[in-house]
Amino acid sequence: MTASPTKPVASIRWLAAPSSSLWLEQAISRPEEVLIDHAHCERKAAGAALQLMFRYPSSESLAEALSPLAQEELEHFDRVLALLQRRGIALRPLPAPAYGSRLAGEIRRQEPLRQLDSFLVAGLIEARSHERMALLAEHSPDPELRELYGDLLASEARHFGLYWLLCDQHWPREVIIPRLEALAAVEVEALSGELARPEDVRMHSVGVQPSSNG
Ligand SMILES: [Fe+2]
Ligand SMILES: [Fe+2]
Repeated sequence: MTASPTKPVASIRWLAAPSSSLWLEQAISRPEEVLIDHAHCERKAAGAALQLMFRYPSSESLAEALSPLAQEELEHFDRVLALLQRRGIALRPLPAPAYGSRLAGEIRRQEPLRQLDSFLVAGLIEARSHERMALLAEHSPDPELRELYGDLLASEARHFGLYWLLCDQHWPREVIIPRLEALAAVEVEALSGELARPEDVRMHSVGVQPSSNG
């Protein structure tokens, strides 16, 4: 099968560059690692939403958005875990790619900028997850995996929309857009390069198409 992501991200304004065909090929050839990593990603996405609720406990708008999001991520976690268990695959720890820590390192320390950056980084991670799940939903040779990723897609799209709304509620567009563009460039940088070992493929391992305008 030739994996060719042709039109996966045109509608996602968050991402500065689409994932590469090479990432898709690597992910399809190591479904077990990607599934285990996916379970960990869902758990971390729930944790990130909860962490924000703990950091800003008095914000009702934030709680209203992030409490259902955290619950939904845990439902996704349960679903991936159940699939792993049916297949007899242990939920073992896997070394994470540098992606998450690279992006977390970009979050400015001082409030209120810390909050804006936290929303944007979480939204970028959701957007990339959505994009890559869409690729797997379309191209995975395993029908059960196509169904799993297909089912989760809509929620992941809603999730980056939600982080966008949180930004929009608290910040003017003139502040959000340039910061999003800067962080989106870092996100692509974090996914640039080549995978050292095939077993290191992850939902957020390197693999983006080189930008067309340098
Ligand atoms: Fe999720
Ligand atoms: Fe999500």
